[in-house]
Amino acid sequence: MIGIFDSGVGGMTVARAVEQLLPRHQILYFGDLARTPYGSKSPETIIEYSIENTEFLLSQGARVIIVACNSAASVASDTLRRHFNVPIFEVITPAVQEAIAATSSGRIGVIGTRATIRSNIYERTFAAMSPGLRIFSQACPLIVPLVEEGWLDKQETKMILRRYLHPLRQKQIDTLVLGCTHYPLLAAMIRQRMGKGRITLVDSSTAVAENLKAFLQTTPEILSLVNGPDLNRYYVSDVTTAATAIARKIFGRRIDLIKV
Ligand code: DGL
Repeated sequence: MIGIFDSGVGGMTVARAVEQLLPRHQILYFGDLARTPYGSKSPETIIEYSIENTEFLLSQGARVIIVACNSAASVASDTLRRHFNVPIFEVITPAVQEAIAATSSGRIGVIGTRATIRSNIYERTFAAMSPGLRIFSQACPLIVPLVEEGWLDKQETKMILRRYLHPLRQKQIDTLVLGCTHYPLLAAMIRQRMGKGRITLVDSSTAVAENLKAFLQTTPEILSLVNGPDLNRYYVSDVTTAATAIARKIFGRRIDLIKV
């Protein structure tokens, strides 16, 4: 089974991409709704939660883990890889690869939570994979709570986004990384706010699903462990009406959220 976790509903954008690309594999999702958002918490707390989430998914039968949360991936990936003897995928490296492939000007924007931006993980990963790019980062701490609240097309969300995106509009970027798995839910609004010019939005959900698919094709021993009937389960640490509505919007069908 493929274990996927996030602080809330954002990682469901990754789960949907995995469902579409690997339909014959079973997904176990965990959204830590009771403790969301992670992005405003300290690295120590995010690491502690990430270990607990991984332990939970492994105890339910997961054999591969996707950290579908940039905030967790930015501070906890190394610890998780040291702690657990299963393949750990994260969303940052695939996003960086996609942004490098997309940019022509070499000027790339990154938006994320405070934890992700403070960690400098994007700058470090870009520098390691393609030195010389100009990276402009912007923390958007209010966006995750707005998405978790289901305020996907509210005027207030537009206004806050405009404020966050304004500095990036001055930088003549041609590529913008959505460095938080909640942000694809606001992709249309973000594109509109970034202006009419050609700008590529990078959403790591498909890229991480493709990485996982390629990995499984070359590791048949793991493939047999994650193969299974489509009995995907969506666990959460709290059930809210807003989360149920967003899950339905993301998957286009009713998702039964199981409280654990
Ligand atoms: N989806 C998470 C991320 O990618 C949101 C983090 C949060 O809960 O603040 O960073």
